[in-house]
Amino acid sequence: MTIYSFSQLILNWYHYHGRKNLPWQKKKTLYKVWISEIMLQQTSVKTVIPYFNKFIKKFPNIKILSTGSLNEILFLWSGLGYYSRANNIYKSAQIIKNQYETKFPEQFSQIIKLPGIGRTTAGAILSLTLNYFFPILDGNVKRIIIRYYGIKNITINMISEKKLWKIIELITPLYNTNKFNQGMMDIGALICKSVLPQCNICPLNISCIAFKEKNWKKYIYKKNHIINKIKKSWFIIIKYNHKLWLEINTQKNIWKNLFCFPNFDTKIMALEWLKKNNIIKTEKYKQIKPFFHLFTHFQLHIHSIIIILKNNKNIFYKNTGIWYNLNKPQKIGLPTPVQKIIKKLNYKIEDKSL
Ligand code: ADE
Repeated sequence: MTIYSFSQLILNWYHYHGRKNLPWQKKKTLYKVWISEIMLQQTSVKTVIPYFNKFIKKFPNIKILSTGSLNEILFLWSGLGYYSRANNIYKSAQIIKNQYETKFPEQFSQIIKLPGIGRTTAGAILSLTLNYFFPILDGNVKRIIIRYYGIKNITINMISEKKLWKIIELITPLYNTNKFNQGMMDIGALICKSVLPQCNICPLNISCIAFKEKNWKKYIYKKNHIINKIKKSWFIIIKYNHKLWLEINTQKNIWKNLFCFPNFDTKIMALEWLKKNNIIKTEKYKQIKPFFHLFTHFQLHIHSIIIILKNNKNIFYKNTGIWYNLNKPQKIGLPTPVQKIIKKLNYKIEDKSL
């Protein structure tokens, strides 16, 4: 089956069976779709409808919402659960009032910065309201993909999430993204249900692997609590000419005897180390985008601070470390994330973007 026909099957199904008359689908605005998407996080359509109607009656637009108190919002939320969502709506309304002149922002980068909004919610708001091309990946969509492509033994972690995002980016059509996204959410909620899916009426059953194997139970997105543990680490990357300062790791078992950038559990500790070594803000000082590194028992969230030294102040001539030459790299053991950063830095240095 081609990529085209997957989306076509969803669009055809949506045309006949998709939900088109939900309260937030009538006279659509970014505001109403935003409120509905927040309410629909972890909550079914049926439960949300009366809450949504009450909410819109009291707060028909952002201007009025932004004058409401947190208590008023919480009152309308009572019974719906996950109350941090109501707090986030209150905070977002204040941000929209102060930063966007009480007009709901239209850019993905602005929307995703609002509290309580992740990639899926931001994508849903823009695709469902304005038909912009943004894929979404909520629990329903994930379940469809895992079953359809027969992805076995998939546990929730950053790598799986990335893999699923790649797939949904490929199969989401450029046109009619709104209908495709709504169709996927509807099929996930009404047909490809987590328990007792209605495969006989599913538009994807001709090529769905879970259906072919008559074993939808095999394809579940397993929670792995151990792997979801996240630790932080701050790497300090000191660069002088074409050299990077690396220290041999004596303390941490996982990377014992490997060469790493000086690394710390907290930013404060990292900054203290910089101070101790007389590296202050007069040096060029930059962070690179944090990223995750996966271990079997936890994920390491790695933050980096890059310092470019103008002159070598002889402070790094300790026998615990080396100047790693990017032009003529020494053959030493480097943990994968250190290798990754070096690769990135090489690219950035050539690119002169630092
Ligand atoms: N779950 C999250 N968003 C939804 C939507 N727009 N329609 C149905 N279910 C949803």
